[in-house]
Amino acid sequence: MKQLMIRPVIYKYATAKEFAQEFQLGKGDLVITNEYIYKPYFGSMNLACDVVFQEKYGEGEPTDKMAEAIYRDINGAYKRVIAIGGGTVIDISKLFALKDVLPIEDLYDGKIPVEKNKELILVPTTCGTGSEVTNIAILALLNRGTKKGLATDEMYADSAVLVPELLSGLPFKFFATSSIDALIHAIESSLSPKGNGTTRMFGYRAIEMILNGYKIIAENGPDARIPLLDDFLTASNYAGIAFGNAGCAAVHALSYPLGATYHVPHGEANYAMFLGVMNAYMELKSDGEIEKLNKFIANILKCDVTDVYSELERLLNSILHKKALHEYGVSEQDLLTFTESVMENQGRLMANNFVELDKERVYQIYKSLF
Ligand SMILES: NC(=O)c1ccc[n+]([C@@H]2O[C@H](COP(=O)([O-])OP(=O)(O)OC[C@H]3O[C@@H](n4cnc5c(N)ncnc54)[C@H](O)[C@@H]3O)[C@@H](O)[C@H]2O)c1
Ligand SMILES: [Fe+2]
Repeated sequence: MKQLMIRPVIYKYATAKEFAQEFQLGKGDLVITNEYIYKPYFGSMNLACDVVFQEKYGEGEPTDKMAEAIYRDINGAYKRVIAIGGGTVIDISKLFALKDVLPIEDLYDGKIPVEKNKELILVPTTCGTGSEVTNIAILALLNRGTKKGLATDEMYADSAVLVPELLSGLPFKFFATSSIDALIHAIESSLSPKGNGTTRMFGYRAIEMILNGYKIIAENGPDARIPLLDDFLTASNYAGIAFGNAGCAAVHALSYPLGATYHVPHGEANYAMFLGVMNAYMELKSDGEIEKLNKFIANILKCDVTDVYSELERLLNSILHKKALHEYGVSEQDLLTFTESVMENQGRLMANNFVELDKERVYQIYKSLF
């Protein structure tokens, strides 16, 4: 049975300058990024690459329409596509290494053959998605009101480059939402029936690094994250390796309709679902991997295992405030629509649940979080 695949070569450089020199960024390269990341770290190098700023095409997380608008503007003969940004920039850029992508809805429906014809280099500037090592590009499909992942081996990067320096200007809010996303990748993949000893080695290590970091931040305030950025970026990469192989599950599945309908950042939408899903699992099956995981987390939090979720929530709340679903504007009718959407569109993720969650249970989870 296959245990683990890591397709891109993973690099780490202390500074953006070292990365630019080692990779000889220049002519024939298309860089997709944000102006506020590119200017401070790369601007003074006067590189000869073409640069596109994603934020000029709309705010928030990536949609099929945003990616289409960028794609129409960049049609050119590039050898390498280099994404320097958060999951939004990275997931859009993954599509640009392909030969044909328009219309994107058709690509996501499998109507366009997925053929990669450019080298892809991914440089994350948040500490959450792990997208630099996964084979998935996730976009909101605006006509469908949900997010969907295109998961195929052509979505793998050739190189994943970690440059902790690039995270030093990441606002605390995005540090919080992205690192909680990474924590959830590590937890969902560790509980996934597709997980194994090797994927869990990455998953459990990521959980430990993130929770230990949160403890330091909870005690010393947001600025305490700065010396820990390398750890958080590395943990996010480990969590990416873990879920890239073992998959994410219901937390992600249930978060997608909320994220897409009410424009809630991905990590925050996941956090809104997280403990609802964990409690549902515990009601259905409290032994096996979840028992091991709870003990592991209780040990890090130095609490009794029976209090593990309340202690975890207390720690996470000091990083990111948890809201009830109605606070996002979600209505009771939405809970039904969201449930339908999960059962219809998120089969890929729901197949990785620790225990099976049927439609009624999904609805109950939403209701418990309302
Ligand atoms: N493909 C995958 O494997 C995968 C996995 C998880 C999540 N995702 C996707 O990733 C997206 C979320 O990505 P994210 O959490 O990285 O957030 P993001 O990319 O949306 O970034 C959040 C905000 O932070 C800004 N930002 C990013 N890096 C910065 C930096 N270093 N300095 C200053 N500002 C910076 C961005 O411009 C943006 O405004 C979602 O769409 C989600 O679905 C993909
Ligand atoms: Fe995620």
